[in-house]
Amino acid sequence: MAIILIACIICFGVFILGLLKIRDRKKNNGTRCWQHISPSKPFLTFFEWAKVYGDVYTIQLGSHQAIVLNSIEAAKEALLTNDKAVSGRPYLKTLDMLHQGEKKFVFASHCDSMLKFFRKTVLCDARKRCAQLDELIEQQLAAFKDNLFLGSDEAVDVDLRSVGHRMATNFAHGIAFGTTFDLNDPCLQQWEVALDEYRDLMHWFREENFFPVSTEQFAARVASFRETSKGLYKNSIEQVKQMPKAEGLVGGLLDIFDGEKNSDVENIDDVISVLRDVMFGVSDGSYQPLLWMAMYLAKNPDIQRRIHAEIDASSAESATCQRVVMPYLEATIREVLRHSELTTLGIPRRLEQDATIGNNNFTKDTIVIVNVFALHRDPRHWDAPEVFNPSRFLDDAGKLRSLSELSYLPFSTGQRSCVGQQMARNLLSKLFVKFYQRFEVNEIESDPIPCTVNAGGAFNPELKAFKVRLSQRIS
Ligand code: HEM
Repeated sequence: MAIILIACIICFGVFILGLLKIRDRKKNNGTRCWQHISPSKPFLTFFEWAKVYGDVYTIQLGSHQAIVLNSIEAAKEALLTNDKAVSGRPYLKTLDMLHQGEKKFVFASHCDSMLKFFRKTVLCDARKRCAQLDELIEQQLAAFKDNLFLGSDEAVDVDLRSVGHRMATNFAHGIAFGTTFDLNDPCLQQWEVALDEYRDLMHWFREENFFPVSTEQFAARVASFRETSKGLYKNSIEQVKQMPKAEGLVGGLLDIFDGEKNSDVENIDDVISVLRDVMFGVSDGSYQPLLWMAMYLAKNPDIQRRIHAEIDASSAESATCQRVVMPYLEATIREVLRHSELTTLGIPRRLEQDATIGNNNFTKDTIVIVNVFALHRDPRHWDAPEVFNPSRFLDDAGKLRSLSELSYLPFSTGQRSCVGQQMARNLLSKLFVKFYQRFEVNEIESDPIPCTVNAGGAFNPELKAFKVRLSQRIS
């Protein structure tokens, strides 16, 4: 009897939940797309669907409803006009498993009191770190050169992925902790593995988040990742604590943590969770563009020649703050981030309250996905969007066009936009000036670079393995 009663109560509960869902669905009144979504290359699928369903449509991701925005107009209406309503992040099972009760940063709730504090700390640190970036980049490029050329002046044929990744990991460690490793240090390799694994575990567009599939395998990966990565972070934090003056971003975080000025930072795991997102942002934000840039310049010698000429014509002094002085290089960086975006679908948002986007009403808790890939390939805004052409970012006088007039959002916009944008743009500008001042990359005739764009990548355009002939321009 009791069993029948319990079963009746459960059935009634499910029935009510179903009714609530149907009611919510009715409220979301945009065009609805019912097709099956493959977890592989969803950005391409969404881009194709926009041709049928329009720039704004809703999809069903398991029990979640999501809006997909495929034009700059819709993205700005959501992220700027409805900034407050669109400032949440969805609850995602895998992210929760990954963070296990720690304070989150990238996936923190909009109302988490720590979010503001974390954002402010990172932004202040980025401002301070500007001058130190030059030193960090010089040091890493010297190590890069020694590692590849072994004292010789001869050109080398090289797959930049391994050494590029190690260098990028050092940028991240330098910014986070104020120290770097020798490029052959096994500890650096452990960091690389941990960051790679974090990248994969952080991907949110996975079926575990939307469908009732087993999370056992994911849980096992998370457990092993947490075990090893925590050790690495704790070691580096301990080393910073031994220093007379705490360096890096962690210095600022520990000050606050130890000084108990902010009681919300409850334990060292909270500090680690912030550092993880920053380490990942810096390493991926420098590693991926470094490789893509080498690939595009090796394939487009004319563009590389123009960059070399621009760098050579600038004084050493102006080269350190080149963003204004070197418009063509800056345009090329922008084009790299347009043509091969790091996050094709951005990081999902959640509606904190009902909102109207593209003349349609959407209900609180709907997931908002900005298809950055579609914005960057929109033929209504870009001529031949599939062609790599830095000049599209310059006006007739050769000056940089204002980004606000373009269908371009690599760092997103609004109050949850990328907090590392300033740091990333500084790092990339400085890195590429110094890199291409010293080096030239060329395609190897006998080993051409494979056609790469949009190939293979589940979440982003994937860069297939390739080698370039790297030669030194100055000794
Ligand atoms: C080329 C490099 C980078 C690109 C293209 C990029 C892109 C993005 C994008 C698209 C978002 C989502 C913003 C939104 O939801 O509106 C984001 C968020 C974020 N990024 Fe970056 N990022 C880069 C580098 C960095 C760096 C260097 C850091 C480290 C300081 C960083 C830290 C973060 C954090 C913490 C968030 C979450 C902010 C929040 O939710 O409040 N990113 N990034």
